[in-house]
Amino acid sequence: MVAVAILAAGKGTRMKSSLPKVLHSVGGKTMVERVLEGLSGINPEHQFIIFGFGKDQVQNALSHRPNLTFVEQAEQLGTGHAVQQVIPHLEGFEGDLLVLNGDLPLLRPSTIENLVKTHQEKGNAATLLTAQLPDPTGYGRVFCNDQNIVTEIVEHRDCTPAQRQNPRINAGAYCFNWQALMQVLPHLKADNDQKEYYLTDVVKDLNPVMAFNVEDYQEILGINNRKQLAEAYAILQDRIKDQWMAAGVTLIDPISTTIDTTVHIEPDVIIEPQTHLRGDTTIGTGSRIGPGSLIEDSQIGANVTVAFSVISDSVIQDGARVGPYAHLRGHAVVGENCRIGNFVELKKATLGDRTNVAHLSYLGDATLGTQVNVGAGTITANYDGYKKHPTIIGDRTKTGSNSVLVAPITIGSDVTVGAGSVITKDVPDDCLVVARAPQKSVPGWRPRHLREEKKE
Ligand code: UD1
Ligand code: CA
Repeated sequence: MVAVAILAAGKGTRMKSSLPKVLHSVGGKTMVERVLEGLSGINPEHQFIIFGFGKDQVQNALSHRPNLTFVEQAEQLGTGHAVQQVIPHLEGFEGDLLVLNGDLPLLRPSTIENLVKTHQEKGNAATLLTAQLPDPTGYGRVFCNDQNIVTEIVEHRDCTPAQRQNPRINAGAYCFNWQALMQVLPHLKADNDQKEYYLTDVVKDLNPVMAFNVEDYQEILGINNRKQLAEAYAILQDRIKDQWMAAGVTLIDPISTTIDTTVHIEPDVIIEPQTHLRGDTTIGTGSRIGPGSLIEDSQIGANVTVAFSVISDSVIQDGARVGPYAHLRGHAVVGENCRIGNFVELKKATLGDRTNVAHLSYLGDATLGTQVNVGAGTITANYDGYKKHPTIIGDRTKTGSNSVLVAPITIGSDVTVGAGSVITKDVPDDCLVVARAPQKSVPGWRPRHLREEKKE
């Protein structure tokens, strides 16, 4: 039996932020959420989130996750004090307590699983994750005997210059035999440079404590400041890109591309340079996305092309072509084989298959049938200053260049709208509609100054 405590009460002073540190996002997910995802291999009995600074924010950010027990650490007196807060919740508990710092977003589930497994197989009082870092500055140093048995952990700031030479660091992930930990946890002293109750001090009084070295030291990067946040993002990006390339996705220029972990990409997709895929986004096979595009929370079908465009909260069906310079948002739905061209904005617009909006248009709150051709510069006037109104256009209708469709309005099927029309009334099926001042030619007309010259 395993219980988990995630330490998430600290402010994260070094982040210089009003947001609690563990709520900063790395690749589209908060740090604490990433730590929780690392638990996927162990099926814990209890999951405690130790919270304190910004506690409402932390609780709201995790409200969608089931089976969490929030335990308050009202004053943040150190990592040992944080773990002391679960004592009343684990009375009589017979298993192990896994403690994870909330600022460890890159830990892999397999690493956590192996840590717990090793701990249980060896029957240790405690097992802690360690790494050998090229630059261990800032981390607690772990001192072991030649049997990998930990004798002491000394925080960087409490180390002597000689101790600082030790590259082996404490990752901030520990597995404790709860009954053993209970004997020593209540007796911690804040006997250090920060005057905090350090969890790491318990190792002196537990026996045996074993160090478990992580293979890939990048996993244990603890995020204390914005620079480390960016480093974590870069590491995560490398992992994600390697994964998609191995799965058959071409990234023309991985360095200039960013992909959230929440994105799904099918094989034979080509991602062009300067393209960013975020949130709950999927890209279907054969599609070519970019260059220079941002796709957020959108479903892109197969064989779609998108160039230099921004698409959010939208659906693009198979074979559609988007861009350059299109902006789709607010749940736009583009049917199969549609063409959305230059400087077109679609907001909450649904387009039937093979409909084209090729140049300079705004369509908002609109529903278009199939094979509609929206002429260059057609605009839906959907907002009267108070409310948004719908526009409906039937199949095969064509709007002339520079038409203004004043909503609410319904235009039938097989309609041709004359160029430059301002349409304010519903239009039936199968007709030509023209709403503009008729053209007039005045024979022999001269500008006034020429007329006056004649008189003199
Ligand atoms: C800690 C370890 C250090 C280790 C490093 C790994 C201690 C004393 N030191 O240092 O050995 O190398 O992590 O990254 O544990 N927190 C609370 N309540 C508190 C204090 C902290 O919940 O009172 C939480 C923080 O929100 C954070 C985590 O504990 O998520 C770690 O705290 P932090 O201050 O970042 O510890 P480090 O100084 O990095
Ligand atoms: Ca830290």
